[in-house]
Amino acid sequence: MLILGIESSCDETAVCVAHDGTEILSSVISTQIEEHKKYGGVVPEIASRRHCENILGVTKKALEDSGKSLDDIDAIAVTYAPGLIGALLVGVNFAKGLAMASGKPLVPVHHIAGHIAANYIVHPELKPPYLCLVASGGHSHIVEVLDYTKFKIVGRTRDDAAGECFDKCARAMGFPYPGGVHIDRAAQSGNKDTYKLPRPAVHGSEYDFSFSGLKTAVINLVHNSQQRNTEINKNDLSAAVQNAISEILSEKTINAAKALGYDTVAVAGGVSANSGVRAAFEKLCGESGMKLYLPRKDLCGDNGAMIACQGYYNYLAGYRADESLNAVATLSLEEI
Ligand code: KG4
Ligand code: ZN
Repeated sequence: MLILGIESSCDETAVCVAHDGTEILSSVISTQIEEHKKYGGVVPEIASRRHCENILGVTKKALEDSGKSLDDIDAIAVTYAPGLIGALLVGVNFAKGLAMASGKPLVPVHHIAGHIAANYIVHPELKPPYLCLVASGGHSHIVEVLDYTKFKIVGRTRDDAAGECFDKCARAMGFPYPGGVHIDRAAQSGNKDTYKLPRPAVHGSEYDFSFSGLKTAVINLVHNSQQRNTEINKNDLSAAVQNAISEILSEKTINAAKALGYDTVAVAGGVSANSGVRAAFEKLCGESGMKLYLPRKDLCGDNGAMIACQGYYNYLAGYRADESLNAVATLSLEEI
């Protein structure tokens, strides 16, 4: 079955045509990063306007690249939550119009479930149940993937998400938005032990995260060095930040997997592209004999393929939306 997957929750307008969820016939991504860079972060109104301008062209290109026409499509899947409300509304309204005009079923997809599904595209052997860390710009969740459409969150961030921490530390160091990838590059030639950074103590749930203390420590380090007119070694500080975030994410996830009896772990979301995070998971999973699944690098960030893939599983599970479908800025994975 052919699904058209539409994503517009943040600063990427992305559309994909996929066969049976995992065979990607085309995937087109129009990113707005260059424009938001000027402001040091995503400007919601600009994001909505660009989605509005681009979504039809991106959809036409995805259909053209796949060699299929709208008539060939069996269902239209769209991200309806969570994300920037004005950005989500563009995709939702466009998908509704397309579905209603063509008489095709409309399938709502939760963005985080989409990130999780990205792993199925390259790892057909990965099947629920397993434990997945989802680390993106807005979320850091440890999720029990009970089935393709059933999730239980066992850990979450109390403050900043991991991607947000990468981006804010990068900004303090003078890297452009989004800074995670710049920290990743600089860390390659840095010494992780030059700067000592704190590890958070999170009381209550042992699988919850907290990144604001780490972020504040990095901002203070940079400001103090500016006041003393000394230079920060950006490579070393990047290596220290990356090492701290990678350790925190991987240790908590693997501890949760052991405690909950999972022998299979996956990582998803934009931060799963980070080389330090990938290496930390490879090391810990190797040591504890767990199977590890990491998304292909081009499927870590926002894309339409992950929405088409999750849309396929949602379709099989009977998820349908009608003309009353609305966008939702905040919605837990457990509420879908
Ligand atoms: O999943 P995503 O594309 O969008 C959201 O749903 O939020 O995640 C974006 C986040 C940003 O914070 C970005 O800096 C981070 O993922 N990111 C990285 C890397 N690539 C993207 N962080 C660290 N290292 C990377 N290589
Ligand atoms: Zn995302």
